[in-house]
Amino acid sequence: KILILDFGSQYTQLIARRIRESRVYCEIFPFNCGIDKIKDFNPKGIILSGGPKSVYDVGAPIIDKDIYELGVPVLGICYGMQLMCTHFGGVVAKAQKREYGHAELMIKKDDLLFDDIPLDNGKLKVWMSHGDRLEEIPSDFEVIGFTANSPIAAMKHKEKPYYAIQFHPEVAHTDYGSQLLANFAIKVCNCLPVWTPGNFILNEIEKIREMVGDKRVLCALSGGVDSSVVAVLLHEAIGDQLTCVFVNNGLLRKNEPEQVVKTFKENFKINLVYVDAEEEFLKSLRGVTEPERKRKIIGNLFIKIFEREASKLGEFHFLAQGTLYPDVIESVSFKGPSATIKTHHNVGGLPEKMNFKLIEPLRELFKDEVRQVGLELGLPEDIVYRHPFPGPGLAIRVLGDVTKERLNILREADFIAIEEIKKAGLYREIWQAFTVLLPVKSVGVMGDERTYEHVLAFRAVTSLDGMTADWGRIPYDVLARISNRIINEVKGINRVVYDISSKPPATIEWE
Ligand code: XMP
Repeated sequence: KILILDFGSQYTQLIARRIRESRVYCEIFPFNCGIDKIKDFNPKGIILSGGPKSVYDVGAPIIDKDIYELGVPVLGICYGMQLMCTHFGGVVAKAQKREYGHAELMIKKDDLLFDDIPLDNGKLKVWMSHGDRLEEIPSDFEVIGFTANSPIAAMKHKEKPYYAIQFHPEVAHTDYGSQLLANFAIKVCNCLPVWTPGNFILNEIEKIREMVGDKRVLCALSGGVDSSVVAVLLHEAIGDQLTCVFVNNGLLRKNEPEQVVKTFKENFKINLVYVDAEEEFLKSLRGVTEPERKRKIIGNLFIKIFEREASKLGEFHFLAQGTLYPDVIESVSFKGPSATIKTHHNVGGLPEKMNFKLIEPLRELFKDEVRQVGLELGLPEDIVYRHPFPGPGLAIRVLGDVTKERLNILREADFIAIEEIKKAGLYREIWQAFTVLLPVKSVGVMGDERTYEHVLAFRAVTSLDGMTADWGRIPYDVLARISNRIINEVKGINRVVYDISSKPPATIEWE
């Protein structure tokens, strides 16, 4: 396995994903985790990430040279290269020109790092993003690649497996960047490429069985990707010692509750307790229009109902949660704390109150790996590739007052929009697509009649992680079909608009 030391680059997680795509397991530690923690992890190689600082800045993240005493290969990327340079007595300075974007790397020397990478006249297209550069190479190192602006864009220790590169192999703009990282992990560090969904499942089943013994596990199933994979994985491991509770809060999409019951109870034969709490949720939301209040009410009520139902089901020792790796990485950040824009509720508040031990079988995985594991476990693609759906559900997509009637209008419209997006083959490339019922009425004409009905917004965004997003460039004819069908088929809507705002400054959801 490989260890990535994070110096605060926005690309650190990408390095980890590329390494794992080469089927080598890796983890990210903050740069200041301490040598003992690194020794405990026992990596076969270390990658030093990029970072926003300059190595000579006051407060720059610096590490000791003791990592070189571990006797494993080290690869420095961007800031990591500059750090390695100072470790071995070279000189880093501000480049005259900040280099940002594509550059052509001339490869000077055949090396394991560049194995199986086809070159175009000895050149490789790489992605640069740096203000500093190496001015003087440490005397133990030699140049193995250069660009027009960086005479030392790639270097290697003359005797030891220490490499450093100025460009970013982890981003898609660097040709064969994945191959380069795989070369480091597999050929330089001799890691075996055995990190596969199948192996993960086998290992995890064993770990779960050992941890759980003959005790019982409770799982809150939402029908989203993460909790679905957790449920099926646990069921494989411990069968009927697992009980899942699915709360229908009346704020789900059309057919969703039925689908969850069918998939998990009928197909997978999981012990599933279905709780119909629609009336309870709608009652407590009556007259509430403020988004944050909606979230609070829904979050608290969910916990209350979940606790109530769980207490009817006997004793449980464990609570299963779909925590993913990005939630547990200790992040290195040089920015201040950010303001709360929206409080996102999930089942986070449950364990402290209920005295459970947590079981989090996905805490080593990135989202794309969770999907692979889900497919391997036989979950339908419908669930595995499902768009993210907010905990408060349609309550924050019916703007203003949440009533059953308005929820039903939204449900019908949303169903049509998603159906058309799927038919057009666009569902997978979109991060989220959904409709929003606006608290606005507009005038229309149908036949010879004047209508005065709801306006519906359609939103489709592309994004990598939901933190930033752009509005989807959906073809006009697809938008036309969506609008036409909704206005014709859904009673109560006479106008559809398309949301063309990016995030920031807008957010993905409207509330
Ligand atoms: P925003 O609207 O903040 O959304 O740009 C970013 C991502 O988070 C989802 N979202 C939520 N998820 N509870 C959740 O579990 C919430 O209250 C919530 N609000 C927004 C949103 O769907 C998008 O994927």
